[in-house]
Amino acid sequence: MSDTSVAWHAVCELDEIDEEDLIQFEHGGQVYAVYHTPSGFYATDGICTHEAAQLADGLVLGEIIECPRHQGRFDIPSGKAKGAPVCIDLRTYPTKVEAGQVYIGISTRTTGQITSSYARPPKQFPSTQAHALEWSSKLGDSDSELGGTCCR
Ligand code: FES
Repeated sequence: MSDTSVAWHAVCELDEIDEEDLIQFEHGGQVYAVYHTPSGFYATDGICTHEAAQLADGLVLGEIIECPRHQGRFDIPSGKAKGAPVCIDLRTYPTKVEAGQVYIGISTRTTGQITSSYARPPKQFPSTQAHALEWSSKLGDSDSELGGTCCR
């Protein structure tokens, strides 16, 4: 039997992220981006799904993050890819603000006692970064004009 829950991690003080800005947060070998937009705080994966650029170096425009490398765009609240050359969405994560502190919620999978001989281990999903790199290598797109291939 397995259980998935969210562990809250303190990212920074509330006033450490200006509106229309973001901060990079690393945990467990993963990189996240935590944003302060006009509509509130959000979090996504911190690595672009196109060619693995760090989104912390990008530009926040309202609720859009523009990647610094090829100017691909994502909708911050939903993580949806919004502009070429990006076509793979970012994962999103819950955030909360408590006592002047910004938190990100990261899923934690805990494994309970196996009670059945038919119990299987939890399904493993590749990280977004690994997924993006896998796509990039499959597409062989490192030499194109944009430095990548849009799948649209
Ligand atoms: S690496 Fe982000 S748009 Fe290319």
